[in-house]
Amino acid sequence: MSLIDALNWRYAVKKMNGQPVEQEKVDKIIAAAHLAPTSSGLQPFKIIVVTNQELKEKIAPIAFNQAQVIDSSHLLIFAANENYTEEGIDEVFDRMNAERGLPLDTTDAYKAQLKGMLLSRTAEENFNHAAHQAYIAFGIAIAEAAVLKVDATPMEGFNGPALDELLGLDKKGLKSVTLLPLGYRDEAGDWLVNLKKVRTPKEEFLIELK
Ligand SMILES: Cc1cc2nc3c(=O)[nH]c(=O)nc-3n(C[C@H](O)[C@H](O)[C@H](O)COP(=O)(O)O)c2cc1C
Repeated sequence: MSLIDALNWRYAVKKMNGQPVEQEKVDKIIAAAHLAPTSSGLQPFKIIVVTNQELKEKIAPIAFNQAQVIDSSHLLIFAANENYTEEGIDEVFDRMNAERGLPLDTTDAYKAQLKGMLLSRTAEENFNHAAHQAYIAFGIAIAEAAVLKVDATPMEGFNGPALDELLGLDKKGLKSVTLLPLGYRDEAGDWLVNLKKVRTPKEEFLIELK
């Protein structure tokens, strides 16, 4: 299936049927997110996977009782770093240079410039920057899920601080950004399944400067 066909097949499923997604497919969806491009390669976010049903039931009220949270087999939580740190930036470049067999000081000038820029910003600015990176991975995970014919509902409808507290993300220096429940659509029970996919007309969406 081409990516366009997969994107036409997917929709934001409201009701999942409880059938579990095969681990091999979940692994591919996470691998796709892991391969997402990020600013300076910093990958300032993590994915948390929840499969525990009791925990999903605790998360549901935090997500306005949206059924997908409970009916999914795997609930992915995209959580961004609450700030950048000097050590975190060093770790990324040290790993990059080591894995490429380059001296660790190869990127010193670039790294100094990057630290000057990022570490002078507020934590809020840096969290927003990190969250943007998480959204790119989120989009790629959604696309990979569609290619695999796995349903994945993008979700921002939840109380971030409450979820962070429940999962102890604040203690890990993370803040939740989005949810991505994985599962299979309930064809009989989902009111959205047969409704046309609607987008703004291409003439409005696309601005061509010739
Ligand atoms: C960032 C983001 C947050 C969303 N939050 C929710 C949500 O909390 N619950 C939900 O059912 N759908 C949510 N959606 C799904 C959108 O409503 C849906 O993608 C949009 O209406 C387009 O429809 P389609 O995805 O079915 O093509 C969200 C989508 C995005 C991209």
